[in-house]
Amino acid sequence: MHHLPTVTFMQLYRIPQATGIDSLTVAETHLPQPERGQALVHMQAASLNYRDLMIVEGRGARGAPPADLVPLSDGAGVVVAVGPDVTRVKVGDRVAGCFMQTWIGGPLSADDGASALGGAIDGVLAEYRLFDQNGLVLLPEHLSYEQGATLPCAGVTAWNALYGGQPLSPGDTVLVLGTGGVSVFALQFAATAGFRVIATSSSDEKLAVMHRLGATHGVNYRQHPEWQNQVLALTNGEGVARVVEVGGTGTLTRSIQATRLGGEIGMIGALTQGGDINPTPAMRKGLILRGIYVGSRQMFEAMNRAISAHRIEPVIDRVFKFEEAADAYRHLKSQAHLGKVVIRISE
Ligand SMILES: NC(=O)c1ccc[n+]([C@@H]2O[C@H](COP(=O)([O-])OP(=O)(O)OC[C@H]3O[C@@H](n4cnc5c(N)ncnc54)[C@H](OP(=O)(O)O)[C@@H]3O)[C@@H](O)[C@H]2O)c1
Repeated sequence: MHHLPTVTFMQLYRIPQATGIDSLTVAETHLPQPERGQALVHMQAASLNYRDLMIVEGRGARGAPPADLVPLSDGAGVVVAVGPDVTRVKVGDRVAGCFMQTWIGGPLSADDGASALGGAIDGVLAEYRLFDQNGLVLLPEHLSYEQGATLPCAGVTAWNALYGGQPLSPGDTVLVLGTGGVSVFALQFAATAGFRVIATSSSDEKLAVMHRLGATHGVNYRQHPEWQNQVLALTNGEGVARVVEVGGTGTLTRSIQATRLGGEIGMIGALTQGGDINPTPAMRKGLILRGIYVGSRQMFEAMNRAISAHRIEPVIDRVFKFEEAADAYRHLKSQAHLGKVVIRISE
């Protein structure tokens, strides 16, 4: 279902000044027209990442975001118009925007970092958005727009953590921390590929869901503050091959203890603060601590092939309406969710 826009105005959200969730403001603007190489996308859904909370609170990677920023990196929609010389997409295609609009493949460049949606440049919480054709990927056919909108940041980051570093082998064990967007995708991708997965969570109810999604074992990190010992016990005292490390300084020491000799830790998140990191144990174990900043379009496309082949369904915790965007942010902040929090943009 798509239609060429007959409207001349559209609604979007802006952050005039990033002073918290209440600073989210609905605004109206002219519908843009695609120029050479551009596609106009009628956005249908967007999803939230922890980063979006940091940005609206003025504590993003770049400090305060640009004034009047349009928030959110992750969105999906339908192409409704294309400019001259557009060959990668056509009207009617179901697409998602890449987190970094210019990172196609190879190593990350500084310019790529400056093309991150909803941070360095305007994001996707808008009824329509212009994209350069190179910043779009086709959605897997079996996914809804809501599901497709979960992929660009959390999905690609999880994919990169599993497949962007040293290869994993059949029988390897992957450790995912918590049950947020990145960790649930990592669980799904790893379980689908046949790896053993150990999940941690603050909640036994959430761990039960992780089991249903394919986790081999769960550890409640509230009940077991020294959860790394549980992980070691579950891996014959050896530790896991890969950690999807979304916790940051507050969890990294335990993640290092929970990793086997020569294993790899995907350094992703900063959900926790504090904690002195001693690098010596990582050195003695020959670990790889690999920094991850989402991923390239090529990684996104590789991930989509796996999602299509295995008909993986992203886990959506709750869908909010466009006018309830602030409630969606509050829900993410509460950490009551498991998987992804989504905003439906178009009815
Ligand atoms: N480097 C990158 O490119 C990149 C990309 C995406 C995300 N990130 C970062 O990765 C982190 C996760 O992002 P997200 O969007 O997936 O977040 P999210 O959906 O908001 O996940 C929040 C969940 O993390 C878990 N958690 C919180 N504190 C924890 C702790 N001390 N130990 C273990 N788990 C804990 C909780 O799960 P339970 O309720 O189950 O305990 C919580 O519900 C954030 O720091 C984010 O900025 C980085």
